[in-house]
Amino acid sequence: MIPEEKVREVAERISIVEVVSDYVQLRRAGGNFLGLCPFHAEKTPSFNVNPAREIFHCFGCGAGGNAFSFVMKIEGISFPEAVKLLARKNGIEIEERQLTPSELRSQDEHAQFLRINELTTSYYRSVLLNGQEGEPARQYLSKRSVEPDISDSYRLGFAPDRRDGLVKHLKINGVELESARKLGIVRKSDSGWHDLFRNRLIFPIRDARGQVIAFAGRVLDAALPKYINSPESPLYHKSSVLFGLDMALPSIRTGNSVIIVEGYFDHLALYRAGVQNVVATCGTALTGIHAGLIKRHAEQVYTLFDSDNAGRKATIRSMELFLEQRIPAYVISLPAGDDPDSFLAIHPAEDFASLRDKARPAFEYFLRSLLAETPPDSVDNKVRIIDDIVPRFRKIADSIERDLYEKEICRLLGITVHAFRKRMGGGNLSRQEGSGHQYKTSQPGDTIQDTLLALLLNYPDARAEIIRTGLETIFTDDYLELARLALESLERSNDNQVLSHLAETIENPEQKTLFSRIMVSDGYLADIEWRAVFDQCTRSHEKKQLASIKDIAARLAVLDPNCEEYSQLLRLADSLRTRKSKL
Ligand code: UTP
Ligand code: MN
Repeated sequence: MIPEEKVREVAERISIVEVVSDYVQLRRAGGNFLGLCPFHAEKTPSFNVNPAREIFHCFGCGAGGNAFSFVMKIEGISFPEAVKLLARKNGIEIEERQLTPSELRSQDEHAQFLRINELTTSYYRSVLLNGQEGEPARQYLSKRSVEPDISDSYRLGFAPDRRDGLVKHLKINGVELESARKLGIVRKSDSGWHDLFRNRLIFPIRDARGQVIAFAGRVLDAALPKYINSPESPLYHKSSVLFGLDMALPSIRTGNSVIIVEGYFDHLALYRAGVQNVVATCGTALTGIHAGLIKRHAEQVYTLFDSDNAGRKATIRSMELFLEQRIPAYVISLPAGDDPDSFLAIHPAEDFASLRDKARPAFEYFLRSLLAETPPDSVDNKVRIIDDIVPRFRKIADSIERDLYEKEICRLLGITVHAFRKRMGGGNLSRQEGSGHQYKTSQPGDTIQDTLLALLLNYPDARAEIIRTGLETIFTDDYLELARLALESLERSNDNQVLSHLAETIENPEQKTLFSRIMVSDGYLADIEWRAVFDQCTRSHEKKQLASIKDIAARLAVLDPNCEEYSQLLRLADSLRTRKSKL
């Protein structure tokens, strides 16, 4: 652990403009510095750095925070790692503080888990390489043309056809089997301890740093299930792991793109053919966490899934995730019936490269496959198609892209842009749905609450006035939470350091975005008569809240008076009315 004072020392020594300038070309624009955002693709700069506040914010993608958050995000590292990196760059020495007993215990356990996986990997590997037991697996690999150097890169292994080969090996090496059980690789039954994997080819699954965190085992014949995977464990969360990322990182960095496949052997086939910017999901659908991980490392992504119906669904689902994260995504299509392994078995790597060059933007792929499934030859079908398109179309963040696709959709369906927009306008609720937040939060928020929060940050007198009036009267939702957090910080110390620090500690992504946006854009509030602005804001805010009494009444009219929402709304309406009468 890095001691608090050290973090503060580093924070005081660095300047966010210098830190960011190592990665982004910045120019001065008023009180801020401006540049092209490194976290999403853009042609006009919307990435702001505010030196007075030690804060950055991108109006394009909503990324924001202080110098530490910037380095964490751009380098894909943890907070302590970012502090260390910045300390190193600035010649500050860090000696880590003593861990507490409970921290020591969990660190110990973590190290113990890694050691067990390391022992397990080398055990399976030695069974594969040496002795009679490994012969069937060696034959299998040779049949699939997996040469020793590739087998070595993946650290492939073989789990022998024995009940407790691994159990014994771990015992000899002094491992507590209870710990190994938490990793799922050994189990305990009435008849004693036994291995999870038997008679299977073993793929160790590694994290981005190359540490083995889990295993997958493939049968050597056509038996089912084809694969058995380690269960979720303290080390392994399959929804956030990309197989092969550690091997792919150097190549991802050079080319700034990544190819996602679905199988371990797909990965192996491409890697072997020299296509090394490849990662695979581990027997699970791609998740938002995967997409976020990819965004940290690459600027664009290719999906290469099977050409069957399941593969098509997976492609479209992943397109939605990439739209949400604003990562340009393309779809590589193989000839029907092929997977990367079978394709590369008979074609040279150049043929694959040309397929990749022909990859279609994911949204275009989606449109084509939708129309292939449901021909737009009747009014019914067209309506169905549009309803499939609309929620996804909404996720396209780039306005030029939206515009082009809108034209294309209308052309393909033979409808007018007006009709399409009308349909878009309906069912607006989906815009508020959960995970689209990247898109939502980059839109301007509530300007009145923006200003009030900015007043609170800038003027100690306004702060006092706001506290007197009552935070809950002035702020709602994310604003309320942020106002609370800011006040807490400002109570401790009244300088920009604490606010910059706050920007990095806020966990909720929407609040984080909101906060950094206000922090880089409240320059217009310098040297103003805060009282006048405050009064004006509170008046408009009240009016806006009171207008909602009407909406509440309408909702009450259709609700069952016995339900919970009814009584809640009733209480709300009462309190609003009381306030109105006081005005
Ligand atoms: P595939 O059946 O395509 O496997 O499943 P593969 O890895 O390409 O292997 P080969 O080429 O047929 O030998 C794709 C992925 O789905 C997961 C695994 O991650 C696999 O790599 N899977 C598949 C399982 O987790 N369990 C299974 O039983 C099957
Ligand atoms: Mn496959």
